[in-house]
Amino acid sequence: MRDELLELTGALKNHIISEKGSRDALYSNLYIKGNPVALSSAPVNATANNRVAHTPSITLEDIGKELGDCKRCKLHDKRNHIVFGEGSSTADLVFVGEAPGRDEDMQGKPFVGRAGKLLTDIIKAMGLERKDVYICNILKCRPPENRNPESDEIAACEPFLIKQLESIQPLVICAMGKFAAQTLLKTDTAISMLRGKFHSYHGIKLMPTYHPAYLLRNSGAKKQVWQDVQIIMEELK
Ligand code: URA
Repeated sequence: MRDELLELTGALKNHIISEKGSRDALYSNLYIKGNPVALSSAPVNATANNRVAHTPSITLEDIGKELGDCKRCKLHDKRNHIVFGEGSSTADLVFVGEAPGRDEDMQGKPFVGRAGKLLTDIIKAMGLERKDVYICNILKCRPPENRNPESDEIAACEPFLIKQLESIQPLVICAMGKFAAQTLLKTDTAISMLRGKFHSYHGIKLMPTYHPAYLLRNSGAKKQVWQDVQIIMEELK
């Protein structure tokens, strides 16, 4: 009996090591010498069954230190706070929005204004809390008057988001709105066409959906967001 038990724990240990290896290999695709790699080939192979402890090559804390008092783009000039992101450093689900707005810029936290309240409600409706997921944006500084992000700003900021995703190793990314979805997927396709199904972001399942701020103006789109969120919940079961 004792021998059988030992054999079983040994087999389990080997299984965990090989699963962990496949997950680490998946995430090692994200970088070549610290630079993001092209988004093409990686298969969608991060599944809920693949949920094992991960060992990030870089911590969120280190990424924050590297970002420092960032002056890499013109947005640093008028910002009050860098909005790095918040939540679980080992989250299975990461929400990515566009850029901080006024409330976020004042508080240094993502999604704390009206759109943020709606996102919090969506997270609760999924049976989760904000602390269970990770929330961040394509840009870490507020564009003046909430104008659209510009390509030089995205280029300066995106490497840090990629590193955050590399560190967290989520199973699913929810890209909220056109900017998040199009930036991460490197496409010009409309959000209305992208949403509703998983895409691959370096092998991580990425669900594009409408931005909560859009839902505040178009409550009819809540139904579609709920459909997208249910697909995510099914994946994370
Ligand atoms: N809108 C975003 O895209 N991000 C925030 O953090 C807040 C509002």
